[in-house]
Amino acid sequence: MSNRRPPKRALVQVDDDEEEDKSYKLKILLPNGTNVTLTLNNPQPEMSMRNFVNLVKEEYEKTRKSCVLSGKMRKRIDWNLAAESYLDFNGEKIRGMVRLETFKPDSCNILRLDDGSGEATTMYENMWDLTPDTDMLRELPENYSFETALADLIDNSLQAVWSCSPGNRRLISVDVLEDRISVFDSGPGMDRSKENSIAKWGKIGASIHSVDVLEDRISVFDSGPGMDRSKENSIAKWGKIGASIHRSSKSKAIGGKPPYLMPFFGMFGYGGAYACMHLGRRTLVSSKTKQSKKVFTLQLNKEALIDNRSTSGKNWKVDGGMRDPLDEETKLSPHGSFTKVEIFEWKCKIPEIYQLQCRLKDIYFPYIQYDEVSKTGRTLRPVEFQVHGEDLTEIVGGEVATTNLNSKGEEFWFQIQFCEKRKGTSQEANARLKFVYFPIVHGKESTDIIMESFEKEGYKVSESFQTFGRVSVRRLGRLLPEVPWASIPFMERGAKASTLQKCCQRVKCFVDLDAGFVPTPSKTDLSTQNLFSVALKNFGSKSKEKDNDVSMVIHREGTSLT
Ligand SMILES: Nc1ncnc2c1ncn2[C@@H]1O[C@H](COP(=O)(O)OP(=O)(O)OP(=O)(O)O)[C@@H](O)[C@H]1O
Ligand SMILES: [Mg+2]
Repeated sequence: MSNRRPPKRALVQVDDDEEEDKSYKLKILLPNGTNVTLTLNNPQPEMSMRNFVNLVKEEYEKTRKSCVLSGKMRKRIDWNLAAESYLDFNGEKIRGMVRLETFKPDSCNILRLDDGSGEATTMYENMWDLTPDTDMLRELPENYSFETALADLIDNSLQAVWSCSPGNRRLISVDVLEDRISVFDSGPGMDRSKENSIAKWGKIGASIHSVDVLEDRISVFDSGPGMDRSKENSIAKWGKIGASIHRSSKSKAIGGKPPYLMPFFGMFGYGGAYACMHLGRRTLVSSKTKQSKKVFTLQLNKEALIDNRSTSGKNWKVDGGMRDPLDEETKLSPHGSFTKVEIFEWKCKIPEIYQLQCRLKDIYFPYIQYDEVSKTGRTLRPVEFQVHGEDLTEIVGGEVATTNLNSKGEEFWFQIQFCEKRKGTSQEANARLKFVYFPIVHGKESTDIIMESFEKEGYKVSESFQTFGRVSVRRLGRLLPEVPWASIPFMERGAKASTLQKCCQRVKCFVDLDAGFVPTPSKTDLSTQNLFSVALKNFGSKSKEKDNDVSMVIHREGTSLT
């Protein structure tokens, strides 16, 4: 490796003895599905392709000795042919002479070395380094289910599409591609679920032939800004524990207008990887940014990571690759950026598609259809959300839609601003409590009517009128499905709100929270450690409120209430 410094052509005057060092990091994907990393410190501005290939070869031979690779057969690299062929750098072909200024100093440049054989590999061993850099794994969530894991992936997608430029499509598309069609001949397994089974046929593929080649998978696609190979926005952060970009946005989601639709859910920096490990044995993440012509991929293989087969020392390396975008991906995201997470060899029980559609609509309701802010009375659709090719705005079922249909009269609402009393802290959180009334209709409790509708939709309903949940909690517009509060003390006391007091059995409280509230790592409930959650849970209970280190201001859009 040459360390000779070329004569400087500085535009700014710099002291001669204070020369600026330049370092280039180049990751070169090799024709046999492996890769090497070259670090060139203060190199000559250009070098011949042959010299460059020699450097790569030296590095390859050196690292082969120290690195653990899978034992699979690899083809021999013909270095001579490679030197006569080209390097692919973000879609540009570099031949003959390699100019270092083409690359970005101090960031990882990914190049593919072609060997002229005309066959390019798309998957490379040990491409991304995911070695965890924190001990955050200790906080792994408990009570993880299929729904929780899927929601973790969708949270990521929602957070991603939120930052799309105006005018760009904000699409989230969830698909479960299961080879259900093979049941067709044998009869008994035929899907008699509510959703149209013919539609499923159309979705999976028109011909039996295409079904044969499709591997079963759960896929979550979003048209967000995507990830690439760059240092700041590397796809490696997807799997690297604690390397979250999402986390930095959390503080922006404190305050603002209820129902606080700012999907800045990322907090812990391991939601994605953990969800995939839970859902299946193998996960393929494919992502593309607008700037990059290529799609970068990363593959997590649960067993390999767990038995440390792919680890050498403390490293946690996984395979990855680089490819051209597929037509389908370009069609779904015309502005050219996306992220797709596909889970193969899943092992969890997957609900019927219609039930999944209803459930996801419940969890993300205000992001799918939202009629609160619009003065025109028009329903807004903050994001386009498809499950199995169907737009969730078209799905009429689910708990929220059914409940909305059966509520009557004026809603009563107010906001609470929570602040920590301790000196020197400025922690804040906000909540809106909205009370909705469910009357008796034709001698029947609306709540019973709602539960009957659920049963018709195929849900198992174990609640009765007495035990039916009177509190529903959303954080940043997203349902926390397991908050176990039967009611809030305020609802039982009612103070002067006599209508509430009399009818509290017929009132349901919809609570909207901002990011000042902290969820559990599985994001299904509120953390019981959090002062604000405790204060909210005890709201209206004179005895418990006193003990709290939290001050509360009750207001409606800034005007204080008593
Ligand atoms: N769909 C996506 N589009 C773009 N970037 C993504 C996407 N999904 C994940 N990422 C990137 O990968 C990082 C890790 O995601 P992950 O879900 O593991 O953690 P997080 O969202 O930051 O926090 P949490 O553990 O609370 O979910 C994110 O911070 C983000 O930088
Ligand atoms: Mg996340």
